[in-house]
Amino acid sequence: ETKRWTMHKDEIDNNVIDEAADLLRNGQTVAIPTETVYGLGADATNEAAVSRIFQAKGRPEDNPLIAHVAGKQQLRYLVDKLPPVAEKLVDAFTPGPLTLVLPENGTCARNVTAGLSTIGVRIPGHPVAQALLKACQRPIAAPSANLSGKPSPTTADHVWSDLHGKIAGLVDAGQTGVGLESTVIDCTQEIPVILRPGGITREQLERVCGMVMVDPALANTAEKPKAPGMKYTHYAPDVPMWLVDGPAGNLQAVIDRQQKQSKRVGVMAGTDTAAELKADKMVSLGTDLPDIARNIYDALRMFKNEDIDVILCETFPETSIGQAIMNRLQKAASGYISE
Ligand code: TXA
Ligand code: MG
Repeated sequence: ETKRWTMHKDEIDNNVIDEAADLLRNGQTVAIPTETVYGLGADATNEAAVSRIFQAKGRPEDNPLIAHVAGKQQLRYLVDKLPPVAEKLVDAFTPGPLTLVLPENGTCARNVTAGLSTIGVRIPGHPVAQALLKACQRPIAAPSANLSGKPSPTTADHVWSDLHGKIAGLVDAGQTGVGLESTVIDCTQEIPVILRPGGITREQLERVCGMVMVDPALANTAEKPKAPGMKYTHYAPDVPMWLVDGPAGNLQAVIDRQQKQSKRVGVMAGTDTAAELKADKMVSLGTDLPDIARNIYDALRMFKNEDIDVILCETFPETSIGQAIMNRLQKAASGYISE
């Protein structure tokens, strides 16, 4: 049985926080809201607790977890050193959707880092996550709270449908904010390297610390990614999905051709494009890139193979958060098609 609590993110219920924190301190798993996606939390210093996360998600054991802490002071306890560039990033962007990869110091259980000598650390800004971390008084390891391979959860219902019965608790605080996971940035080298694009954009990072590099594996599928998790199938909808470049006329031509082959076609597109299209099922993602980011994972979960045979998704400009959007869509899709 999974215990489920509900609270508004701006009205912290301390009884719920205490109950959830007790479960976490006792080595149980609790799904918690963050400003990016829901995370599945466990005491990062307790190896048995952390292994419950891997079990519930069906997550490969070589994929390290992010350790979440309430603030910079607690972050220092987990790392061997905080290089000046990392400190700049912490000061500029946290609490917030940024994960720093730093040399670890052995405070967290070995299975958090999957045996690496580095650890991903993040200070989430969501008020419920902050309250829980403060109540627990210890680092909380938390990957996204979905079954491995599925889209990350942006609502408590997504978590429930993937994990109920497999985890001890779920704190429901409504839809998350950014809607895509944190940016993962490796700060162990002289020049920081983005391993996963996310809530903080490359442009924002460069404004604070000058040059930032991007893991070549993000652009070239022949390269082995430096974030172990980036090599796995991800975000997969129940139905095969293909990406189609605009304009709307091109999308409609592809829809028509698929329908001629007796396929029932689902479409994901920005609101303006969606208004111009006809298909069997239409999910409009929003008007600007931040909106689209917020809605994408929910949209990926809306198509079921009972009523749709193929999903066609519009592509978006790779500027600002568009980089993270296209990274996730490329991982969710089988590839690109055109007329
Ligand atoms: O927004 C987020 O980051 C969410 C919320 C819950 O905080 N968490 C999240 O965790 O997305 P997860 O486990 O789904 O993704 C973590 C990513 C994986 O690609 C993993 O391989 C990478 O971060 N990662 C973690 N520790 C690492 C390390 N030491 N070195 C390189 N990559 C690491
Ligand atoms: Mg994940």
